[in-house]
Amino acid sequence: MRMNFKGFLFLMVLALFTMVAAACNSGEEGGSGSGSGSGVDVGIVLPTKDEPRWVQDEQRFKDALADSEYSTEILFSQGSSAKEKENVEALLNKGIKVLIITPHDGAAAAAAVEAAKKDDVTVIAYDRLITDTDAVDYYVTFDSLAVGAAQAQYLVDNAEGTGVPLYLYAGASSDNNAFLFFQGAWEVLQPKIADGTFKIANSSEAEALKDTKELDRDQLSKIIGQVTTNWDPNESKNKAQTHLTSVGDDMKGNVAILAPNDGTARSIADVFGSDSAVTDYLITGQDAEKASIQYVIDEKQSMTVFKDVRTLVEDAMGMAVEVLDGNEPETTGSYDNGAGDVKAKQTDVIVVDKENVKAELIDSGYYEAGDFTGLE
Ligand code: BGC
Repeated sequence: MRMNFKGFLFLMVLALFTMVAAACNSGEEGGSGSGSGSGVDVGIVLPTKDEPRWVQDEQRFKDALADSEYSTEILFSQGSSAKEKENVEALLNKGIKVLIITPHDGAAAAAAVEAAKKDDVTVIAYDRLITDTDAVDYYVTFDSLAVGAAQAQYLVDNAEGTGVPLYLYAGASSDNNAFLFFQGAWEVLQPKIADGTFKIANSSEAEALKDTKELDRDQLSKIIGQVTTNWDPNESKNKAQTHLTSVGDDMKGNVAILAPNDGTARSIADVFGSDSAVTDYLITGQDAEKASIQYVIDEKQSMTVFKDVRTLVEDAMGMAVEVLDGNEPETTGSYDNGAGDVKAKQTDVIVVDKENVKAELIDSGYYEAGDFTGLE
């Protein structure tokens, strides 16, 4: 092919344009940092944008990465294990060295992280453990047993009298955390069910196990299977409506509700709040989502468990950087994921209710006062 000078110049400009565009693209989807070339060093995969909890994590990752020397990319799986696997593959194609991943489904994600391991990528499970695979190198997490225990303790400390109807709800069975939260809660609630402080209102499976303090995985599965919310506010609302329709007034009045997180708590609280035979309710939550902080201020949700996502992000990125720098990350314990022990770094949680909401979340700089109304 013969080319004149103008044609040559045109091709040069086109080539330059393509190079600039490629360089810009590599930072998309929340990518940041100056990066090392056009590849991505750390891939981050989060479960869904539909829950504020994970949008919070995305924002905290972006804040933490603003001046990182490594390049990163954040992808969301939108509640689909297939999409999650595609995301991991896309990141592997970009040459990541470390994968930070919160699985949508802890067992189904094994295939995705095994693909990463084959590429010599270090896998860090973030907040949710990936189960039954040896392809997980590290786990950064909050103390999930303590989350459940704190929720239950709040109900125990604030319930008045005896024979208080107790409504139990749990997270998704596909999430290992749902087991830890429920187990932590049950160990605190069970003695108080046994001594008559509470009477179970909505779970025949829990009723059948009410004399057993330490439940095994199968027993937990039975209860969770019956009272799961699947982490879905709509499912929570439907279940709460069904429960209130099927009980008599002896299971209403002043009630206590174990709700596993903020999204489900708000839905369940709305249902209980609009039943005229429910005179008052105590309800738990977790995540300190802004909408729930407003509910706490408005006394529509009793408490939330504040999990400072900044710490988790710092721990995960700290581990990733150690790995990239060729060092062994520091860990504080381990979790059995069914295939063996995974080295873990664990963070504590804080109980927040109307009394300390301002001190813990506003004065600490986590949220701004202007985001809420009626804050004292
Ligand atoms: C997380 C919670 C979250 C829930 C639903 C759990 O694994 O630990 O913070 O509310 O998933 O997304």
